[in-house]
Amino acid sequence: MPVVPMQQILRDAFDKRYGVGAFNIVDWVTMDAVLAAAAGTRSPVIVQVSVKTVKVMGAKLIQVMFAEMAGRTPVPATLHLDHCPDRQVIEDCIAAGWNSVLFDASKLTYEENLAQTKEVVALAHRHGVAVEGELEAVKGVEDGVGSEDQGAVVPLDKAVAFIRATGIDSFAPAIGTAHGVYKGTPKINFDRVSEIVAAEPIPLVVHGGTGLSEETFHELIRRGAPKVNVSTQLKIVLADSYRTYLEEKPKEYDPLKLLGAAKKNLVAQVIYFMKVFGSEGKAA
Ligand code: 13P
Repeated sequence: MPVVPMQQILRDAFDKRYGVGAFNIVDWVTMDAVLAAAAGTRSPVIVQVSVKTVKVMGAKLIQVMFAEMAGRTPVPATLHLDHCPDRQVIEDCIAAGWNSVLFDASKLTYEENLAQTKEVVALAHRHGVAVEGELEAVKGVEDGVGSEDQGAVVPLDKAVAFIRATGIDSFAPAIGTAHGVYKGTPKINFDRVSEIVAAEPIPLVVHGGTGLSEETFHELIRRGAPKVNVSTQLKIVLADSYRTYLEEKPKEYDPLKLLGAAKKNLVAQVIYFMKVFGSEGKAA
């Protein structure tokens, strides 16, 4: 299936109230596993990449690999750049043919964030690329971007004004979720999701998917947050798969078997999330 725009995936999921996983990949094996899980569950999927990975692999290589692999996968798939405060990397990804970017200007003042996000949206939309906006920093560091503190929550009217003035396609609010492994049970501000969506019907984004309960996912998706980000859990499965395999088979030197073992575990993990989010069977 050809690669589809992010807007197409999020609009259907938002309207029908199911979730679509945005899974952070770091290489060929992880991208292959995420797409295989999507094919296996007939699920639309968002392949998400951090700036750190883009800097290692290059925007064009990732896009070419994605276009080729998604082209062989019979479900709608789209390629998204995760938290990016760097305008140059955003421009590189747009030029390389990516489908969507998260311009993370949450460290800037409200006015500066709004002005810069408007510029990013203008450029992105000229190329058919979607933009996720962020106003309040999500707690936790994601591949070197972010901080251990959640940003101050912006009053609802200012958040809605930001969404309208910038023309962003999706919005990532600070709702108490955090990147990385949770130290306790997070206190989620479900009402914030409902309030934003009631004021402006835009698909919201759940950051910090690793470690949230199934009930939390269901409630956030039901209230209007169809894009659900998962990164840390896939890193854990990948690293543990390699570690276990090498410990159990110290004399095995076929790298393809090692990669295959990791892929198998990743596919099972991603299928689990797709079922929980409700995207199974939703591929048009
Ligand atoms: P986790 O690393 O907690 O799964 O969060 C992923 C994320 O929100 C990416 O932006």
